[in-house]
Amino acid sequence: MFITFEGIEGAGKTTQIKRLHAFLIKNGYESIITREPGGTRIGGHIRAILLNPQNSDMEPLAELLLYTADRAQHINEIIKPALSSNKTVLCDRYFDATLVYQGVTRGLDTGLIKKLHETIFNNLKPDITFLLDLAPELGLQRAWKDINNGSRKNHETRFENENFAFHEKIRAGYLELAHNEPERFCIIDASKDQDHIYQDIIDSLKGRTRFLIAEGLNL
Ligand code: TMP
Repeated sequence: MFITFEGIEGAGKTTQIKRLHAFLIKNGYESIITREPGGTRIGGHIRAILLNPQNSDMEPLAELLLYTADRAQHINEIIKPALSSNKTVLCDRYFDATLVYQGVTRGLDTGLIKKLHETIFNNLKPDITFLLDLAPELGLQRAWKDINNGSRKNHETRFENENFAFHEKIRAGYLELAHNEPERFCIIDASKDQDHIYQDIIDSLKGRTRFLIAEGLNL
């Protein structure tokens, strides 16, 4: 099964992915954690270019193609092999982030972004996407706290440096995607404390997988 996590900066995706991974392993399901950008060695180099605050003059189209290059490497090197050996893939961000960040906020044509994904990645989509939703005031506060206490790298702050309106647009963009595809998205209230968020994720996963397992999917 292919599960992705999305949300604004500071939504707490990394913590929740680790907890879900531990839950799956404890219950006997083979699972891997990965992320975009930077889930592969080559992707790590692409990530460094994309998130470097010195690259604030990057062209939106160059940004889109770099995220797509990262994804090409990631799908072929990590995601597809893991799915073929029946592992559950837990991925910190994926294609929905491109639709929202490069489409909604950078103003690139979302039709083109979708077409690109359909054509070159055969429209590979997650089975479930957890959208960790919270207000940007709270998310950015948390993200900067992580940067200041060293748990997140301060040379990766290109998006945290964007203004407040940018993050409001990201949040709205994600919510719109979620409302358009309710069968794939689970919206989780990420303003709650970590334990409550985790419990909401487990409850939603149990609800969804009962249905997906009935459809013949392996967790
Ligand atoms: P993160 O690893 O902390 O989530 O940071 C990745 C950043 O990259 C985040 O600000 C969202 C952004 N991003 C895009 O703009 N487009 C994409 O396709 C992906 C996967 C991430």
